[in-house]
Amino acid sequence: MPHPIPIRRERGGRPRLLDLFSCAGGAGMGYHQAGFDVTGVDINPQPNYPFTHHVADAIDYLSAHGHEYDAVHASPPCQHYSPLNAYNHKTYPDLIAPVRDALQTVGLPYVIENVETAASELRDPALLCGPMFDLKVYRHRLFETNWPLTTPPHPAHTAACTRNGYLPTQAKPFMTITGGRHSRAWQNAASDALQMPWIKVPPSGDIPRGIREVCEAIPPAYTHWIGTQLQARTSLEVAA
Ligand SMILES: C[S@@+](CC[C@H](N)C(=O)[O-])C[C@H]1O[C@@H](n2cnc3c(N)ncnc32)[C@H](O)[C@@H]1O
Repeated sequence: MPHPIPIRRERGGRPRLLDLFSCAGGAGMGYHQAGFDVTGVDINPQPNYPFTHHVADAIDYLSAHGHEYDAVHASPPCQHYSPLNAYNHKTYPDLIAPVRDALQTVGLPYVIENVETAASELRDPALLCGPMFDLKVYRHRLFETNWPLTTPPHPAHTAACTRNGYLPTQAKPFMTITGGRHSRAWQNAASDALQMPWIKVPPSGDIPRGIREVCEAIPPAYTHWIGTQLQARTSLEVAA
């Protein structure tokens, strides 16, 4: 059954994807690899973002410029949905519903990504995990779409995994990648595990560069998978 929301190809060439809450472009890179012309938006400057980038509030930018794009990905910050908030007494904005409202107003095919603890906020989300793409990370992420997204088989978590902050070994080849005061070697190993070489620390670089970038990222392989389906649907709809 064709999806009622076609991607527009008025300009010819690659379709344009808006990457909201972009951080350093883990998600954006996968869409680029799938054939999209990607533009990122983040409330903070992202000097390592590999494509065109704007510093702006995501919903403000979407409302003003969404009509210039063919599809939208949004990764609202996940801190609001963390069970740790009960202990640290911090409050964070709950952005999933407002982002969805804005996306529905714009009326484009969309993807909303978040962590498993946000599952109740997402509508019928699909789950992706590292071993689905031969990545050595058990990194579950959920993806809500307003078009049908299929997922690969989910391999069992049989390989041993490091604790956060530790480098992978032969005995524990999988990495846990979450925040902390990590070494340069850890950061580079994490960048390799997620296949994000552009945020590795250069030999002369400071350690802090990119720690947050790698800890918050979606592996590009996930959005390559999603973007490929988005592209394939586009071709079918254009041919129809
Ligand atoms: C989970 S990270 C996104 C990770 C990214 N998708 C990736 O794969 O690399 C969330 C990002 O949202 C940004 N952010 C937070 N509030 C925002 C807002 N109101 N508008 C735009 N960006 C915002 C943060 O600066 C952070 O970089």
